[in-house]
Amino acid sequence: MALSNIEITTLADVHKESEPQDILKLALESYDNIAISFSGAEDVVLIDLAARIGKDVRVFTLDTGRLHPETYAYLEQVRERYDVAIEVASPDHNELEPFLAEKGMFSFFEDGHKECCSIRKVGPLRRKLATLDAWITGQRHDQSNTRTDVPVVQVDPAFSSEANSLVKFNPIANWSSQQVWDYIRENEVPYNPLHAKGFDSIGCEPCTRPILPNQHEREGRWWWEDAKEKECGLHSGNLNK
Ligand code: ADX
Ligand code: SF4
Repeated sequence: MALSNIEITTLADVHKESEPQDILKLALESYDNIAISFSGAEDVVLIDLAARIGKDVRVFTLDTGRLHPETYAYLEQVRERYDVAIEVASPDHNELEPFLAEKGMFSFFEDGHKECCSIRKVGPLRRKLATLDAWITGQRHDQSNTRTDVPVVQVDPAFSSEANSLVKFNPIANWSSQQVWDYIRENEVPYNPLHAKGFDSIGCEPCTRPILPNQHEREGRWWWEDAKEKECGLHSGNLNK
């Protein structure tokens, strides 16, 4: 059953304070052609919640080629623990190779992360989303000043086309980092060991660093850039407001 744009706006309102498990259940019952977008960080709670709902769910990850070794090992750990195939979306070599030949491996420190993120993350995501009717993300309001208003379900503001509405579910949008970590501890969910080394937010290895006590998690991402630029393009619709 596909939901109309008006139904989605209504659902977002009705469920704006619903529990993540209920929002996820709604997502999985409404769409067959749907998948969780898993970054290899604390958004693992989505996979654990889905396992408890008991409905098979597809999971994909964007392998930028620049993730930490710990993250690759963790993706494997999650794959085994939940017995779930993790679909891997990789960058298009036709775009990546000329980019690297021209600019080298660390151009983002010189001219910003947008171009590299576009090739390594956004392109593969666009290809994956073109095969889906809906996707599920681990975005949260407290993650970034660009995410404070993210609804629990929306017509994807960045990846929908005129012909096709792509639906985006954000089941843990209302959860704080504290609630996510309480859930992980209480349910003995496996977590990426980088979290125990001061990485509150985990992205690519060259562009992520641990934070100091009381720094916001986003300060560990693309720290050499302006704070307002801290969306890599996966959720760029958050900036169009
Ligand atoms: S990012 O846009 O800054 O990189 P962030 O790390 O906060 O995103 O993660 C927010 C959500 O985006 C994750 O919960 C996940 O749904 C999705 N996401 C981020 N990175 C990836 C990735 N490498 N693969 C799949 N999904 C991702
Ligand atoms: Fe490239 Fe850094 Fe973006 Fe990863 S986070 S895709 S390494 S610019």
